[in-house]
Amino acid sequence: MKNKLILVTGGTGYIGSHTVVELIEQGYEVVIVDNLSNSEERVLDGIEKITGVRPAFSCFDLCDTTALEKFLTAYNSIRAIIHFAAYKSVGESVREPLKYYQNNLVSLMNLLTAMKKHHIPDMVFSSSCTVYGEPDRLPVTESAPVKKAASPYGNTKRISEEIIEDFIKSQTKIHTIALRYFNPIGAHPTGLIGEHPIGEPENLVPYVTQTAIGVRKQLKVFGNDYNTPDGTAIRDYLHVVDLARAHIVAIERMLDGKQKNAYEVFNLGTGHGNSVLEIINTFEKVTGVKVNYVITKRRPGDIEKIWADPTYANKELGWRAQSTLGEALLSAWKWEQYYRKHLEKKN
Ligand code: NAD
Ligand code: WQD
Repeated sequence: MKNKLILVTGGTGYIGSHTVVELIEQGYEVVIVDNLSNSEERVLDGIEKITGVRPAFSCFDLCDTTALEKFLTAYNSIRAIIHFAAYKSVGESVREPLKYYQNNLVSLMNLLTAMKKHHIPDMVFSSSCTVYGEPDRLPVTESAPVKKAASPYGNTKRISEEIIEDFIKSQTKIHTIALRYFNPIGAHPTGLIGEHPIGEPENLVPYVTQTAIGVRKQLKVFGNDYNTPDGTAIRDYLHVVDLARAHIVAIERMLDGKQKNAYEVFNLGTGHGNSVLEIINTFEKVTGVKVNYVITKRRPGDIEKIWADPTYANKELGWRAQSTLGEALLSAWKWEQYYRKHLEKKN
């Protein structure tokens, strides 16, 4: 089963880089395609330090069909694709919706077209719990209704899933697993790779670690008047290494021909929700570092509470999130410290 070549698009990005580490450690060969629009080539150094292997890397934009064609002609033994590459900033997508529709949908359609032409049978697609909007019932199962997206970014995930489903129905040779991630956080336990948002972070945990290290003055907690035990909003925070491992399981399910349907969807979360204040308190407890925060008004478009029912992934994939919230937050802190000490100066 191993020694198979897997194409990881967006493989120098946050979730992609952690998945590349797991793939290499499981004996897969990896080639990364990334245009470095939201990541840096030196992520490859981190991957190499962890695994002892520097994955092949090709830098181009998946919207460029000529470059994609040239790449797939050169790499003609790709067995499966994990498609992470996409823009992911909710706020930016509201300001520049066409940039998001253009990049996220065109790159996907180019990839599907190329899979058919080059006879690449399997793809794992990065989807998101954002497709559920504010759910009617908790925890959220895969059969919960997909709601109108709160942002153009979210809409690209909903439309992408529909494009893939229609494409799968139209032919018999290509299979896909769409993984709906809840809130990935944390970093590799070595602290050598992690999440480094460009500019001011939108997501909670990078904001927490950047405030703790002094790069940001104060974390704003967006609202404490939600209908939750402490009034702050609740999410299902999932360690990125657990998430990365789910991709290996999904790839193996496809390579082993164990899919029940040519198009499958799985929720990936812990099954537990934590509030914003619980994140801050747990971070302070496990690191011993105080976070300067202030309660402010709600962030427009935010939902009150969501967490996954991961039963289907637990049973069908045999996958389960293993790490505790404390472990995830500690790894995020380790990475933040490593980044500031060793990488920031070299910018
Ligand atoms: P990321 O921005 O760190 O990684 C995405 C990578 O894709 C980046 O390295 C970027 O340079 C690259 N890329 C973007 N457009 C490209 C293109 N046209 N051609 C080539 N490369 C391109 O993001 P991430 O957090 O690792 O997310 C990975 C995937 O998971 C995305 O599809 C995202 O929407 C999805 N997702 C992320 C989260 C999250 O909270 N991080 C949650 C749910 C789903
Ligand atoms: C988590 C909680 C904030 C920052 C986003 C995307 C979604 C999906 C997951 C990709 C919320 C609060 C945050 C801050 C805060 N991504 N917060 N102060 O909102 O679940 O969703 O990531 O598909 O599409 O929208 O994650 O990390 O932004 O926020 O109080 O400075 O932290 O209000 O309650 P969210 P998040």
